[in-house]
Amino acid sequence: MSTLRSIVRGVGGYLPARIVTNEELSKTVDTSDEWIQQRVGIKQRHVAAEGEFTSDLAVHAARRALDNARLAQADIDLIIVATTTPDLTFPATAAIVQQKLGLHHGAAFDIQAVCSGFLYGLVTADSFLKSGMARRALVIGAETATRILDWTDRTTCVLFGDGAGAAVLELGGDGEHGILASSLRSDGHFADKLNTTGGPSTTQTIGHIHMEGKEVFRHAVGKITDVVENVLSATGYTVKDLDWFVPHQANLRIIQGAGEKLHIPPEKVIITVDRHANTSAASVPLALAEAVGDGRIKRGDLVMLEAMGGGFTWGASLIRW
Ligand code: UT7
Repeated sequence: MSTLRSIVRGVGGYLPARIVTNEELSKTVDTSDEWIQQRVGIKQRHVAAEGEFTSDLAVHAARRALDNARLAQADIDLIIVATTTPDLTFPATAAIVQQKLGLHHGAAFDIQAVCSGFLYGLVTADSFLKSGMARRALVIGAETATRILDWTDRTTCVLFGDGAGAAVLELGGDGEHGILASSLRSDGHFADKLNTTGGPSTTQTIGHIHMEGKEVFRHAVGKITDVVENVLSATGYTVKDLDWFVPHQANLRIIQGAGEKLHIPPEKVIITVDRHANTSAASVPLALAEAVGDGRIKRGDLVMLEAMGGGFTWGASLIRW
């Protein structure tokens, strides 16, 4: 009997129409295109329009993922939205997405693991499918991160952008395709290194993003390589077997550092940070949607996803596409 695995049937991404370049930002923030490109590799970011919410971005991405999967909304019985910027404190943004997709059946909930949220969502959906709790899942990473920025703090406000990415998962039994192995980690002792300055229970405000950038940077490469190596050793594959590396898009230098440490050739690394900036939970599915859409990632390819962010949280997932 072949092993049942969660297969990615389709992916989709959505970016708000408005683009803010580094040039434009440097008119209101004490920064420069040169500093941002040199330190982070970002050239521009997308910013959601007034009245455009995280759930709206999520719904656009979800519809594109369903089209890509050639499935209908009604086929979905599990919606997981990974987000740090929900429409409201409650209900879950996933419930609002469920409503906007016109669905009444199944289950919908949010996951909060900041930039690692999509990986956490993927692993949760994988477990639901394998246990028989759901048949087809929509896993969405969606953020309006620009809404929780302090626009007077140049150390954070130049780094983030808005967007959403989605994947449709379904259990399949060919034994080859699907999620082969995943590794999730967290260490709450680093909670104060990357957080918001407020929240419902503490300040009754949403707060702004606060980051000790150097500290986060110092931990990022080591933590990313650890989980990637865990996943490879769990499956018996090596770095040489990988067709694509799809990292969280926070900083080009972190991506390059992890790629070099793991000995992954740069041409196998999907990069979107230059155009999307850091879209937190949306960054990995957005990068996936781009690379599947332009034909780089094809059926049968071996794809490694990874992310690291607030918590700290970090994780990796190996998928036979
Ligand atoms: O998704 C979550 C994961 N997040 C990350 O992975 C982010 C990790 N951290 C980083 O990417 C980097 O630490 C940053 C890009 C945030 C900062 O880069 P850095 O090389 O660590 O710079 P720094 O904080 O040490 O700042 C160097 C200088 C400082 O000036 P002085 O004190 O040397 O005069 C800053 O004030 O750069 C200055 N600076 C800026 N200058 C122009 C900081 N931000 C800016 C800015 N524009 N936006």
